[in-house]
This record gives sequence, structure tokens and C-alpha cells, in this order.
Amino acid sequence: MTKTELYGRLVSQLDGLLQDQRDLIANAANTASLIYQTLPGLNWAGFYFLRGDELLLGPFQGKPACARIAVGKGVCGKAAGQRKTIVVEDVHRFPGHVACDGASNSEIVVPLVSKEGRLIGVLDLDSPLPGRFDADDRAGLERLAEVFVRLTEVDFD
Ligand code: SME
Repeated sequence: MTKTELYGRLVSQLDGLLQDQRDLIANAANTASLIYQTLPGLNWAGFYFLRGDELLLGPFQGKPACARIAVGKGVCGKAAGQRKTIVVEDVHRFPGHVACDGASNSEIVVPLVSKEGRLIGVLDLDSPLPGRFDADDRAGLERLAEVFVRLTEVDFD
């Protein structure tokens, strides 16, 4: 199966999984689990949600992580601040990278933005493999983030 096919399948599975549920925590927990169980070579997959001017840890799979990251700090904070996906081939060379699991070598962070244009948080994936994430991962994970945002109610500001 190609990566594009794998992400196509994941998008349909996520759409099905979230179909009858709008709750933020339930949907984030199931999304993190589906991604972590399906994509090879991950050591962390999960969410940070915007609370004030910080990102607060949400549901995830992997080792315990930093609870709060200021917008603008680390890979998560930068992706949130710029509202753009950031792919990091080598986290040890990313200035300000927030190290949660020493085993991580590469990372991708996708911002979650509502249809009204409001920043909700980020979806973060880490890998022990250097350069694990490429343009196909970016496109696939952005589609997954879109499904998550479309099918989830967010009621905080
Ligand atoms: N490495 C991230 C922090 C979150 S952990 O990877 C789970 C960062 O630099 O923002």
C-alpha cells in the first residue's frame, strides 16, 4: 500500500469513528489512538489545545509529555503561531524544540483551525526515525485534521 492509499484509508476510518460523537476529548482520544496504531514508526501522537496564549496537553498516545507550551515556542508553538504545518527532519537541529521523549528524532505538527478561522490547537506526531515525515504525511495528516475539526465541537475560547 502506498502512503497516499494508507492515508486515504485512515481518512475514511476516522470519518466513520467520529461520525456519532462530537465531544472534543472523546474524538481527540480516538483520533490519537487510530493514528498511533495505524502509522508505522511513531513514538508519540496526540493533541495540544489552545487555552489563552498557551497550548495545553490533550489526549495522546506515547510517553508523558509537557503539559503547557507557549504559542511561539517549540515546534508545536511555532506551528500554532504560524497556523502552518511544520515538518522537522531532525528535532535536535530545530531551535527551541521542546524535548518530551528523548527517543524522538523527527516530528510533524499540524495546526487545527476551525472553519471560522479560529485556532483550536495542534496535532503532533513524533518519531524515533530521522526524517520520518514527508510531503505525503503532511497532506495525509492535514486531511485527518480537517475531518477531526469538521466532526468535533469546540466550545472553549
Ligand atoms: N516536541 C514538541 C513538544 C511536544 S512533544 O513532542 C509531545 C515541540 O517542540 O513543540
